[in-house]
Amino acid sequence: MNDPIESQPLSLLDEFILMLLDEESGYFYQIAAHKMNCVIIGAALAELSLLSRIDTDVESLLLLDPTETGNPSLDIILKEIVDEPVKHNAQYWIEKLISHAETITDLTLENLVNMGILEHHRGDFWTVAAGKLYADVNGDDEDASLSQFIRIRIGKDIFSDDIPDPRDIIIICLIETCDIFPLMFKLDKKAEERIELICRMDLIGRSMADAVKENINNPLLATSHVSKKIPRVSLPRLLFNPLARTGNLPALFADLTEQYGPVFEIAPPFSKPNIFLSGPEINRWARRHGRKYLTSKNLFSDFEKVYGAVGILPALDGADHFRYRKTMTPAYSRGRLEGQIDVVFSKAREYMANWKVGESYPARDLCRKMINAQMSSLSMSIDTQDIMDDIIAYKERALSTHLLHILPKFMLKTPGMKRRAKAIGVLMERVQSVHTSAQRAGCPRNFVDDLLSLNANYPLLMPESNLSFALSAVVLASMYLGDGFNFALYAMASHPELYEKIRSEADALFSNGDPTGKDFTPSSIEVTDRFINECLRVYPIVPMTMRDVVNTFTIEGYEIPRGSRINIAQTAPHYMEDSFPDPLSFDIDRYLPPRNEHRNPGYAPYGLGPHTCLGARWMTLHMAVNLLIIAHYFTLRVYPEDYKLGITAFPSMKPDKKLKFHIAEQKRELPV
Ligand code: HEM
Repeated sequence: MNDPIESQPLSLLDEFILMLLDEESGYFYQIAAHKMNCVIIGAALAELSLLSRIDTDVESLLLLDPTETGNPSLDIILKEIVDEPVKHNAQYWIEKLISHAETITDLTLENLVNMGILEHHRGDFWTVAAGKLYADVNGDDEDASLSQFIRIRIGKDIFSDDIPDPRDIIIICLIETCDIFPLMFKLDKKAEERIELICRMDLIGRSMADAVKENINNPLLATSHVSKKIPRVSLPRLLFNPLARTGNLPALFADLTEQYGPVFEIAPPFSKPNIFLSGPEINRWARRHGRKYLTSKNLFSDFEKVYGAVGILPALDGADHFRYRKTMTPAYSRGRLEGQIDVVFSKAREYMANWKVGESYPARDLCRKMINAQMSSLSMSIDTQDIMDDIIAYKERALSTHLLHILPKFMLKTPGMKRRAKAIGVLMERVQSVHTSAQRAGCPRNFVDDLLSLNANYPLLMPESNLSFALSAVVLASMYLGDGFNFALYAMASHPELYEKIRSEADALFSNGDPTGKDFTPSSIEVTDRFINECLRVYPIVPMTMRDVVNTFTIEGYEIPRGSRINIAQTAPHYMEDSFPDPLSFDIDRYLPPRNEHRNPGYAPYGLGPHTCLGARWMTLHMAVNLLIIAHYFTLRVYPEDYKLGITAFPSMKPDKKLKFHIAEQKRELPV
């Protein structure tokens, strides 16, 4: 058994949050946002009552002691009660304090992570920390995680006749109010009656539950009834905006946000208006709370049919989504890439061996193919150089016809597209031909091995019918990474002083032969890492994301009704002065302490919330290694010399096709 964590006093809020956490989905049980907010405030008030700061019954709520508790979640609301001269009841306070509920939830989760009880995963998922088991108050080790332990305790209260502890009664009252006991326990009639009885046992629990119920049942409180009218962007102003012509969508959306505020509509002629949300506050909200209100399920329903797939990763929600990400995390991890860094070196050198000093090469093709040569080998143990263009062109067309709906659907059925679609079949055949058990024996695990295990273990989560999309996605990831690498090479070639600094890091790393994956430490590639951060700020590949609203929400005073389709321009803050001072200057020092500008909510090149890029850590290392290896062997220049960066913005951002790289100098021989 693992070491139990110190038994430490958890607050009622901590325990309540742990009870609400659904370990299957890595998030809370699906409780309507308003209901969740009401019970969180109820739990906080109950805790203040247990701490003798307030006294509450059905009729009134009295301040007993204004002394801070030292728990920031509780002190926020205690302060409001202290500052209020008039007495009110608990129902009033729940209504008044509800705006703090999300902050209190965040603070409590953070606290549980800091205590080592919860683990926080990329995409804002939480699980009980691996190996953390609980020692109960008597010091007896329980073979259960802490949240399971609390659940077992509450279960004992419900299924026995013992008198529960007052804290447990409050927790039971609040959970009953949320109506989620049936999700936690198999209840029979006797247990239901017992819950009812327990809920009448304690005054605090009862009064809180009643006050919460009053608020939950008030529909006017569930959504704001004072909502501002969403401003509409004037089409002539949009069309004549010089940024619209540059293709720099983040800069364009930053400009629109300054003119119209964080929520605005764009109405193309003869189409329904599109709602856009943009700004650092929107990012903060989407990261923390988006999952309660937004989904991407329906967005992909047409698109995935093109591939014969159902429930592809970007379209999943809840427990299935979390299980998929958790199971596939090793396949996308930095560690996996580190372990096979020799493949990156050899494929990169093989590719660069064709470059001739004095020649210029189209940048898009060079970058995508260089990355693809490595990616297909690493992830699928095959070569896809000859079919890559077809797979990308087909997917981009499918996105335009079946997701963005900017082209009619028949445009995916043209003879040219039918020919390109065949590349997907070729890809499948190649992968199958090298993934027999005998051939894979003794090989380092790759992405396909993980995907096939997922299919074997969870055949409905990763059905065979989804394989063609999942494998195409590897080629597409090399396109995204290739285009990001293209921007980065452009930036490196345009900033000779940074080129030299990156070269110095590369020369140091390769000074004693090839480095290992573990040698690419934060200190050995410190400049290169900051350089990549700045490239992803100035040139994010995925500037915005679409979502469907499934629960009405109010943000910055605007009500966004359920059923809306919204676009979150998560990278607009990259060009906003408040988030990134002097945003137009390419400045890698932004990421040095104390500035640390990549830590602010405005920095979002990897997206926001549960679908955040799963390959982000792989991607940054992969890009760094490629920049370093080029800088070690070659000097590249932008060509033509007077080239002014043009950006193709749809469906994802990339430098236009006019950009070339000129091989100006070879610093050293490539090893054979
Ligand atoms: C410059 C390169 C890349 C950028 C800018 C980027 C950015 C993004 C963004 C913004 C999202 C979120 C999309 C959404 O919310 O709808 C995303 C999702 C994702 N990315 Fe990346 N990405 C890049 C490269 C990669 C690479 C190389 C991999 C694989 C090794 C990868 C794997 C994924 C996966 C699996 C998801 C879906 C996660 C989910 O739906 O839960 N990405 N990426």
